[in-house]
Amino acid sequence: MNARSNSVEVMTPVSRRRIPEAAVIRLPLYLRILNDLTADNCTQISSDQLAVLAGQNAAKVRKDLSYLGSYGTRGVGYDVAYLLYQIQRELGLNKSWPIVIVGAGNLGQALGNYGGLSERGFVVAAVVDSDSAKVGSVVGGVRVSHVDDLPLIVQSKGVSIGIIAVPAQHAQSAADLLVRAGIGSILNFAPVMLNLPSDIHVRKVDMALELQILSYYEQVRSDARATTVTSASESVIA
Ligand code: NAI
Repeated sequence: MNARSNSVEVMTPVSRRRIPEAAVIRLPLYLRILNDLTADNCTQISSDQLAVLAGQNAAKVRKDLSYLGSYGTRGVGYDVAYLLYQIQRELGLNKSWPIVIVGAGNLGQALGNYGGLSERGFVVAAVVDSDSAKVGSVVGGVRVSHVDDLPLIVQSKGVSIGIIAVPAQHAQSAADLLVRAGIGSILNFAPVMLNLPSDIHVRKVDMALELQILSYYEQVRSDARATTVTSASESVIA
């Protein structure tokens, strides 16, 4: 991004403008596609091409990108590097975010050791647990602290995102503690709905729920197969 990056730096950021949540959710998808295109040395992309790659319609893609102040050039499309920059800027990914993991069990350890977080700018600043036997152990290069120290850790390390990896019955109290400590965004892995103030952003990850949706489609597929086999054998008999 030579000449273009110069113009980027003098631009007035448009990132404080609110973007509808549905569009925000699609931005990381575009980001991943644009990263792949960059790796393939692709420098331009049309909204039609991006729409196909993202499984969206082109009008929606154009609308989403317009929230970034990006309208592309007719007949040329979008500059991949610039669009990548704009999305990263909008998502706040041009800086790193310290995160705290609450719960140093199986999941908390797996997340803490997952290199993909730091690659994307999410630094595990702390891991906390209520079990004193776990305090002092090392997860992802970080020494596990006691959950009671959470407020101090959040303040001293400037943490703004918390990950909940505790059993379901403890998730609400862990979330309340995160909020009291000053956390504004929570990624909840526990299979429970959290009741939190409306200004707290919560995203939920539920692998079992996703598998249940897939099991529906597998059931439909196997029902269709059974129907085909039955009608085939009926036609043989006939
Ligand atoms: P685990 O039992 O191995 O670990 C839980 C940890 O949380 C323990 O170290 C425990 O001492 C700690 N803990 C309990 N209460 C606490 C509190 N109030 N504050 C701080 N730490 C506390 O459990 P595992 O397997 O790691 O699962 C953790 C959670 O993640 C569960 O709710 C589980 O259902 C969920 N999970 C979700 C997945 C997903 O796809 N969303 C996948 C796997 C697990």
